Amino acid sequence: MKFFGYSLDPTRLPRHVAFIMDGNGRWARQRFLPRNEGHKKGYEVLKTIIEFNENLKIPYISAYAFSTENWQRPPEEVEFLMTMAGRVIDEYVDSMREKNIRFCYTGTFDGLSPELIRKFQHAIESTRKGKYVFNIVFNYGGKREIVDAAKKLVVAIQNNQFSLENLSENSFEQFLYSPDIPPVDLLIRTSGEQRISNFLLWQSAYAELYFSRKLWPDFRPKDFCAALFDYQKRKRRFGKIDPKE
Ligand code: IPE
Ligand code: IPE
Ligand code: MG
Repeated sequence: MKFFGYSLDPTRLPRHVAFIMDGNGRWARQRFLPRNEGHKKGYEVLKTIIEFNENLKIPYISAYAFSTENWQRPPEEVEFLMTMAGRVIDEYVDSMREKNIRFCYTGTFDGLSPELIRKFQHAIESTRKGKYVFNIVFNYGGKREIVDAAKKLVVAIQNNQFSLENLSENSFEQFLYSPDIPPVDLLIRTSGEQRISNFLLWQSAYAELYFSRKLWPDFRPKDFCAALFDYQKRKRRFGKIDPKE
């Protein structure tokens, strides 16, 4: 298949693409707008990308929308990010259901308003039969997730629900926030920053990394296809050697 001049092999698309949507604030500043205008535009772009995936049919798309570190931003911005997330979920939930999208949530509900929690739970529940997963990574920190998993493991051992002899890399995953979501194949970060910022640390252990210079509000399906094209040129060895080389 071909999009925007990029030939993509449909049999070699990633199973899970995860986005670090970065650069909303800078996008707004460049236009002499308040940072929140950048967040608003950022959510529109996210919808465009999810809708474009109807062409690609990638089974899992994750998007980092709020990190545990983002609580340190000014309260007005935190408040706006929370309200915006709730509003977008509300507006978009019916359309997700119609488009066969399953809404998933990776993160904790700690510190979120009961109203926002209800909105997330409603979206999860009412889209549960969907096939294509849209996973919002919200109020999330990768280190926190691993510590929370360790705590759940200890409790399970204490309650005789889990035996230490059975602990392995695979079995540990049942204690993560979203154990049914597979590893990240392709991690895309916009805005030119080249760091992970505490995002899906466990799940991205062997992800291919792609850094786009575009600010997230300027990111388009064409840029997504450029990233996928680049991904398909790579050789994923997973530590092995290719006997043909
Ligand atoms: C990413 O954009 C969105 C969130 C972190 C919620 P930023 O708000 O980090 O934008 P920059 O990096 O300041 O431009
Ligand atoms: C990462 O972006 C978090 C999200 C995109 C939600 P940040 O802008 O918060 O990360 P840093 O500060 O550049 O590491
Ligand atoms: Mg940023």
